[in-house]
Amino acid sequence: MLDFNSLNTVSVGEAMVELAPVGEGQYKRGFAGDTFNTAWHMAQALHGRASVGFATRVGMDKFSDAFVAELAADDLDVSVITRDPQRNMGLYLIELDGVERSFHYWRGTSAARGLAADGSALAQAFAGAGLIHLSGITLAILPPADRETLFAALANARANGARVSFDPNIRPRLWPSMDAVRQTIPQVLALTDIALPSFDDEVALWGDTSPEATLARFATAGVAEVAVKNGAGPVSVLADGQIGALPTPEVKGIRDTTGAGDGFNAGYLSARLLGQTPQMAIIAGQRFSAEVITHLGARLPKARVPSLP
Ligand SMILES: Nc1ncnc2c1ncn2[C@@H]1O[C@H](COP(=O)(O)OP(=O)(O)O)[C@@H](O)[C@H]1O
Ligand SMILES: [Mg+2]
Repeated sequence: MLDFNSLNTVSVGEAMVELAPVGEGQYKRGFAGDTFNTAWHMAQALHGRASVGFATRVGMDKFSDAFVAELAADDLDVSVITRDPQRNMGLYLIELDGVERSFHYWRGTSAARGLAADGSALAQAFAGAGLIHLSGITLAILPPADRETLFAALANARANGARVSFDPNIRPRLWPSMDAVRQTIPQVLALTDIALPSFDDEVALWGDTSPEATLARFATAGVAEVAVKNGAGPVSVLADGQIGALPTPEVKGIRDTTGAGDGFNAGYLSARLLGQTPQMAIIAGQRFSAEVITHLGARLPKARVPSLP
């Protein structure tokens, strides 16, 4: 079973300003983003036991100040955030049509796109981390040259004992082409210890015919530990060279599935850092996502974040 040098975690990616409708053309301002949602839930779950940082780049404007202040108040390590004097945070707006949600993004020139421009800042952010988490969205928003800078920093951190976890979170609209995604993914899988894909993403990108086929593909790419999420279906797992599957308990009262996978990742990774087996970590992941999907929005109120033994 994979172990960790330290429980300290750094999640890398973009958080955006979120505008969620509250009726009559009015919106409530929040912050969200896949790797941020995961980091935030981990910071609550590991409270007092580990430092959890969110490595991103934001602006120097008031929204960015409010974001950094909110993270600091919620026990995240904000020393790994850099500030861009020219750019500000990306933004998205949620549109509600009955219970269906759609998302409109303004993120093409966000400060986060520069998060990997400076290799020495990345090295500093990763120093002492036991786990570094990133996603396909993190990679999608980077200029190709900066992606190489990030890969070099990950390789160096791994050589110093850090583990790397990766959620492919394939978002075709963020990439120039599906071929570009297919060229980039193997590069990051070669640097990944724990992969947390969703089956429907892998089907769309690679045409996998079963979650077992997904596990086999990740194993061939060199990933030691893989948990394949599949909505209400079983979670398939590869660990210590063995494959298996755990059923997903039925969840009643689903209100909003946004962030289900990010919450799963938080539960899974927190449990693994605390020394639990991949099978126990899947159960933790399912508990986190069950809470997330019965609540509106991608992040839980603090009091509803499941506790971990
Ligand atoms: N309909 C559902 N019923 C029960 N659990 C669900 C449901 N949808 C999602 N989940 C939980 O959330 C996790 C992640 O969901 P999934 O839809 O596979 O990921 P993503 O949000 O990344 O697309 C699942 O492994 C499961 O634990
Ligand atoms: Mg996902």
